Amino acid sequence: MSSMNQPRKPRPKFLDLAAIRLPISGYASILHRVSGAGMFLMLPLLIWLLQLSLSTTPEGVALFNGITGNVLVRLVLLGLIWAFLHHFCMGLRILLIDIHVGVEKAQARSSAMAVMVVSWVLTLVFGLKLFGAY
Ligand code: HEM
Repeated sequence: MSSMNQPRKPRPKFLDLAAIRLPISGYASILHRVSGAGMFLMLPLLIWLLQLSLSTTPEGVALFNGITGNVLVRLVLLGLIWAFLHHFCMGLRILLIDIHVGVEKAQARSSAMAVMVVSWVLTLVFGLKLFGAY
């Protein structure tokens, strides 16, 4: 008898999201999607700021300075800096795994940790610049 005719077993379900413990690569992967979607959704703001930054009139320059001088706007930009850095580092990791580099469990865990650490450290460096610390 073919397996097609056998009664189907109920598929296991485990939907207690609070109890699920992902490996670090799972969290890095979720953040890759979140960062990609976040950057995509923020493209209108970034393109508008780019347009303003290219203003040659005093009014345009003053508007750009006023908007980017706002702390809330800077916090959004800081979030976008993190999003780009995480997405970029994780994107490179995924592309390497696609060509079978670093697919072993231990290597994959280390590279996911490296993505997290490198993107946060670079966010700190660029964030300090954004807030005028140097
Ligand atoms: C410049 C550096 C970037 C690299 C190296 C990169 C790399 C990647 C890779 C490899 C994937 C596929 C991930 C997978 O197979 O699961 C991906 C997905 C994606 N990227 Fe990028 N990307 C970059 C920039 C961007 C930017 C600037 C945006 C948005 C404006 C973006 C938005 C997305 C989105 C929305 C996805 C789909 C995510 C998902 O469905 O999980 N990416 N990226």
